[in-house]
Amino acid sequence: MKHAVIPVAGLGTRLLPATKSQPKEMLPVGRKPIVQYIVEELIRVGISEILFITGPGKTSIENHFDINHELVQSLRETGKEELLAELEFDRFHVQYYYTRQRQLRGLGHAVLCASSFVGSEPFVVALGDSLIGLNAQSDVVRRMQRCFDDHVCTAVIAFEEVPEHEIPQYGIAQPAGDEEFFKVLDIIEKPELDEAPSNLAVAARYIFSPRIFDALERTRPGKGGEIQLTDAIKLLIEEGENVYGVRLNGSEHRYDIGNFESYFRAFTEFALADEKYGASLREYIAGLNGG
Ligand code: UTP
Repeated sequence: MKHAVIPVAGLGTRLLPATKSQPKEMLPVGRKPIVQYIVEELIRVGISEILFITGPGKTSIENHFDINHELVQSLRETGKEELLAELEFDRFHVQYYYTRQRQLRGLGHAVLCASSFVGSEPFVVALGDSLIGLNAQSDVVRRMQRCFDDHVCTAVIAFEEVPEHEIPQYGIAQPAGDEEFFKVLDIIEKPELDEAPSNLAVAARYIFSPRIFDALERTRPGKGGEIQLTDAIKLLIEEGENVYGVRLNGSEHRYDIGNFESYFRAFTEFALADEKYGASLREYIAGLNGG
């Protein structure tokens, strides 16, 4: 599997004013912008071609993955070799592509914009505002690839058990069993608590066969008037396609950066885990609590 798609076109309104003129996907968590962790995660599991689904105001993402010759030269001339090492990510052996979602019609519509890029092979979708695991060290996409091959799937989705109050924010699965890999019998986008079939929430990573595009084309606008990716997955299930879920393990919390509460938590956890500054930050916070 060499293709991945990162949708980053959303307006990020829940993070205003921080996102008025910068993409939420470029907000830093600890030392790096969110989207850099995601690209590193994908490269680790063998992805070599990445398409960003972008929109107006998102050019800083393209700039971030370009080589900035002026900056490199300046760091070289001033002998700041250790800072040059921080820029090594922009030399990864990966090809970046960008296309615009010209109308914001929802995540499903954003994924549909990737159809000619993907061609006839399975591909990964990684949401541009979600990290998996502390410092994004998860290899869940690798396990999802195994599940996809072993069970001859049309779609494999990562799921995380969430507390009750978060259920109405996500797509929720009805699982066939309680194993790590499970068949998804049904999926509901942002259900009310009394209609939720479980507390297993879609966790921002997907693998699809190109059959998803046909389902997306037939998916009518759903919750919020948007073309929902979850509704297209539901259609695949109803038509008898093999859709599987993979559970995140205990060390793979999904950090959703879409709202300030979870953004603050993610930043704090990543900063506390920083090898250089974590220990003194911990002391500082302990001091605040004592004061
Ligand atoms: P969200 O629904 O959380 O993003 O989409 P949003 O619309 O930016 O957020 P709010 O509700 O206004 O605060 C999850 C991911 O899907 C992308 C977003 O950029 C984000 O990375 N997305 C969403 C698109 O690419 N296109 C869309 O039409 C919607």
